[in-house]
Amino acid sequence: MVDRSKLYSYLDKISSSSNQPRVHQHSIDDQVFWVKQFNWRNVTFGRVFHRGITPLLRKQYLKAAPIYISDKALLKECEKAKIFQEAGLLTPEIVLTHRNFMVTKDAGPTLVSELIKMREESQFDKHDQLLCEWAAQIGKIHAANLCHGRPETRDTIYQDGNWIFFDFEEFPEEVMPLRFAQARDLFLIFHILSRDMHEKSNLDAAMSAYREYGPADAYNALRSALEDVKFVNSLIFKIPPKIRGRDLRQSIGSIEFLAQHMGII
Ligand SMILES: Nc1ncnc2c1ncn2[C@@H]1O[C@H](COP(=O)(O)OP(=O)(O)O)[C@@H](O)[C@H]1O
Ligand SMILES: [Mg+2]
Repeated sequence: MVDRSKLYSYLDKISSSSNQPRVHQHSIDDQVFWVKQFNWRNVTFGRVFHRGITPLLRKQYLKAAPIYISDKALLKECEKAKIFQEAGLLTPEIVLTHRNFMVTKDAGPTLVSELIKMREESQFDKHDQLLCEWAAQIGKIHAANLCHGRPETRDTIYQDGNWIFFDFEEFPEEVMPLRFAQARDLFLIFHILSRDMHEKSNLDAAMSAYREYGPADAYNALRSALEDVKFVNSLIFKIPPKIRGRDLRQSIGSIEFLAQHMGII
């Protein structure tokens, strides 16, 4: 058992310091914790702009999720972690919350660090299989009538056969029907998968892994959204490869895969 009073005094001590990182590790009596401070720091200009123009967007799936900061963001993250746990999904144990801090128990190395290790050891088959399994786990989250909101391999932990999810900071399900919020998760994971999958032909396997558990409604919602923006995508595809930045290349790669898989192009 952790001595909570030590954690409280630590948080009181650091709360006045302005140069603390938003998330950092802290150990007490050989136990490792993660301290996350909820403030403005994760709110990018892009998100504020997107939120600002949201009333002008007619399509539900294009709307920006609400922006929560400080105490409210902390509350929302704790709420979603609880909902996940109630659905039998694992999240890191929240030890306590204090002021605008949340302290969780260290849940182990992240999926992204496992993937990097596998790449360094040239274990590419295992690497791609793990990514397919990650897609399947997102399918399971969706099958429980939930969405993650911002799935990332750096915010997922795979250890001893268990999958742990965290960093719930976007709630698209509050501005669009669940099937579109899930479609957004699906779109986001393929954005990551199309960059990280070593053998690109394994992207099909990742989609099959997702669809084994994920609701057909989410897949169909993504399909209809991509169908809807087909014209915009066709213009983006015309941007010459030479002037495509890294992010654009990644986006085009994932949209191309999804559109082909879904028979849109
Ligand atoms: N309980 C935890 N166990 C293991 N790693 C964690 C834990 N909490 C945070 N981390 C690490 O800290 C990083 C940042 O935490 P996160 O909650 O994702 O904050 P942010 O909103 O800044 O991305 C994660 O990507 C992960 O590497
Ligand atoms: Mg994160």
